[in-house]
Amino acid sequence: MSQTKTQGEYQNVAAPDTDQMPAYSEAVKSGLYAKKSGLVGKYDNVRRYWEDEITRTFLRRHLAKLIERSQARMRRVRILDLGCGTADGYELLAGTRQRDPGLQDVEVDLLTPNVLGLYKGVDLNADLLGQARGIYGENPKMAFEQADFTQGLPLGAKEKPYDLYFTSYGTCSHHNEDETLVSLLAEIAERTDHYCVIVCDWLGRYSYEWQTLWTNDLSENRNMDYVVSYIYEKEEREARRDELQHLCLRLMSRQEAEAIVAEASKAAGVEIRPLAFFDRSVFTGRHMDTAEYSPSAQPIRAAVNSLHEANTRTDPGELLIDYVPKQGFDFLNDYFEHLQMCWNTLVQYTTQLLEHYDEKAAAFSQEPPSIPASYPPALRDMMDRMRRVVEGVGWLGIGLPRENIIEPQLGYALRYLVTGLQQGRGCGHGLVGIFEVDKT
Ligand SMILES: C[S@@+](CC[C@H](N)C(=O)[O-])C[C@H]1O[C@@H](n2cnc3c(N)ncnc32)[C@H](O)[C@@H]1O
Repeated sequence: MSQTKTQGEYQNVAAPDTDQMPAYSEAVKSGLYAKKSGLVGKYDNVRRYWEDEITRTFLRRHLAKLIERSQARMRRVRILDLGCGTADGYELLAGTRQRDPGLQDVEVDLLTPNVLGLYKGVDLNADLLGQARGIYGENPKMAFEQADFTQGLPLGAKEKPYDLYFTSYGTCSHHNEDETLVSLLAEIAERTDHYCVIVCDWLGRYSYEWQTLWTNDLSENRNMDYVVSYIYEKEEREARRDELQHLCLRLMSRQEAEAIVAEASKAAGVEIRPLAFFDRSVFTGRHMDTAEYSPSAQPIRAAVNSLHEANTRTDPGELLIDYVPKQGFDFLNDYFEHLQMCWNTLVQYTTQLLEHYDEKAAAFSQEPPSIPASYPPALRDMMDRMRRVVEGVGWLGIGLPRENIIEPQLGYALRYLVTGLQQGRGCGHGLVGIFEVDKT
């Protein structure tokens, strides 16, 4: 039976809803009310769970050594982030963990507040610096400055040198002419008192996502016309094609990076020693999804993003890679084919595990196929782990074990595989080099 309120009753009810609307409008304006998804955008799941983490994995050892050396001299660590943008580099570094913290440990970060002396971010873009100041301006150990790193090292004559010179996410590719990077590195080496670590981050010359740009003659295709189209989903990307931003970015191979660093060492008369090179995002670069530069690129990043997205079920078929070789590049084709075979084998094996798992019986209805001894150790290891993951949680029945435990673990297993098999040659979206200058 429905009841109708009288006019008098309405007068005692709370204010009309329109009076409460500004609160929602404020929330929308703050940006904090926006729908957050790891499936798209700058901070998608691949960026947070793969790219940041892979960089941390390679950096950890060198950062730990740098901290140890600074502490031995009773000094805290000073960081200069060149092309800092909104200071994402700070977040990346601050999130680097100590190696293998135990499950019971709570303090796991390497760069604790008592270790950090100063983080200074420099960038050419005033808007990005404004945003960085908005986020970190209150932190007295963080400073931001506008400068152009192609015009020399942004370090005042009386300013103390830094311990870590950091770049991230392709920033070094903004040196379109190698001379500017050579000068910058030489200046860093000259200004170093005792010891420093330098991290250079470029776009990889031989990423599969721009296979059409591969060349054996390194004087060709040095800079690419990089279109920032991946921030939009397909339809919007096409609708906004004329407004899309283009960047001119240097594509880098290991061989060229080594030559640049050798030239800088020569110019400074001080050795800049390579410590490590690694390829980041080998099959998961952003332009795999857009296929802007290669008709054979498949949306593998989108599929990996889905693996790590909570409450979302992924079609394993979307993860299978069909690598198309390029004539005249056997040294690259062999590598990519090997990686693709390992990747697909792990995906297919996990799919079989899921198909054969009986949730009611809490056991496999059919024994999973044995893992051939001829497979690479990293692949065998990950196949074995995926079997144990499915066995361990397949019966749970609560909290969507496939979506929320098994699929993210498959993501981590694939990440382990590509990280273990990468060769640091420029075959990923990013090529990163870690160097040291040691004058002690
Ligand atoms: C790929 S973004 C990386 C931003 C940030 N480091 C990150 O990890 O997300 C490159 C950054 O370099 C800056 N940049 C480009 N050319 C520059 C130059 N000549 N001098 C200083 N900053 C520059 C851009 O404004 C941008 O913030």
